[in-house]
Amino acid sequence: MKLSAPAIQARKRRSGGDPIVMVTAYDEPGARLAAAGGVDVILVGDSLANVVLGQENTLDVSVEAMCHHVRAVANAHSGVHVVADMPWLSYHVSTADSVRNAAALVRAGADSVKLEGGRNRLAVVRALLDAEIPVMGHLGLTPQSVMSFGGFKVQAKTHEAAKMLTEDAVLLQEEGVYAIVIEAVPSIVGTRVTETLSIPTIGIGAGPDTDGQVLVFHDLLGMTGRTPAKFVRQYADLGAQITDAIGRYVQDVRNGSFPSESEAYANPEGLFD
Ligand code: KIV
Repeated sequence: MKLSAPAIQARKRRSGGDPIVMVTAYDEPGARLAAAGGVDVILVGDSLANVVLGQENTLDVSVEAMCHHVRAVANAHSGVHVVADMPWLSYHVSTADSVRNAAALVRAGADSVKLEGGRNRLAVVRALLDAEIPVMGHLGLTPQSVMSFGGFKVQAKTHEAAKMLTEDAVLLQEEGVYAIVIEAVPSIVGTRVTETLSIPTIGIGAGPDTDGQVLVFHDLLGMTGRTPAKFVRQYADLGAQITDAIGRYVQDVRNGSFPSESEAYANPEGLFD
């Protein structure tokens, strides 16, 4: 049964909840296979930019592009909760625009939305919740902040920064987000934030103690062609398998062994008599 945002919110490990398993997906096959694998939540992440569109960062993803992929994921009818990332600038200009953009993602098939940032996003979170749209937070290495961070760097490495992140998490919780992604921070920060909050944390490079984990589909399956980040565990090497399969197809066409008779339609008798 599809988990609602409140049901995900209740999945705190210290209260006996099972860890939340989230993976990204960007299309129908990805969502269908992720659901068959048993995930709890599918994230249509703006990592779409990196792993599907071949871009260096996530800053060029539009609401329209996100809606296009949310629709494809929703078409899997997977029975899994779908969270859609709000892309950069879709929630930074005005609260009215933010609500309209989040509503477009919901109309495309999202069950909730995720946005990046802490104390500076409270008004947006409030507006989305007022519009009855559940919100997931995202703190730590927030990829949409790549320019202000000066690159993709581990965050919260000083006492002051770790304190700020923890305060941001508490403020987001008080505002009403149902869960928070914590990305690329020292494990102890993942642990402390998880202990501090009553809502679940979902970690990616935040250590073993968060209430759930999320990985990017193409990282997990070995399809990126890049050296994976330290926090990625690669469960398959589909990139190599796909290259091998396509290589064999190329060979078979070139040597005339594909298609065989059994892969062709039978010839009706007397067709060209
Ligand atoms: O866009 C994304 O895939 C994400 C995850 C890395 C959490 O935000």
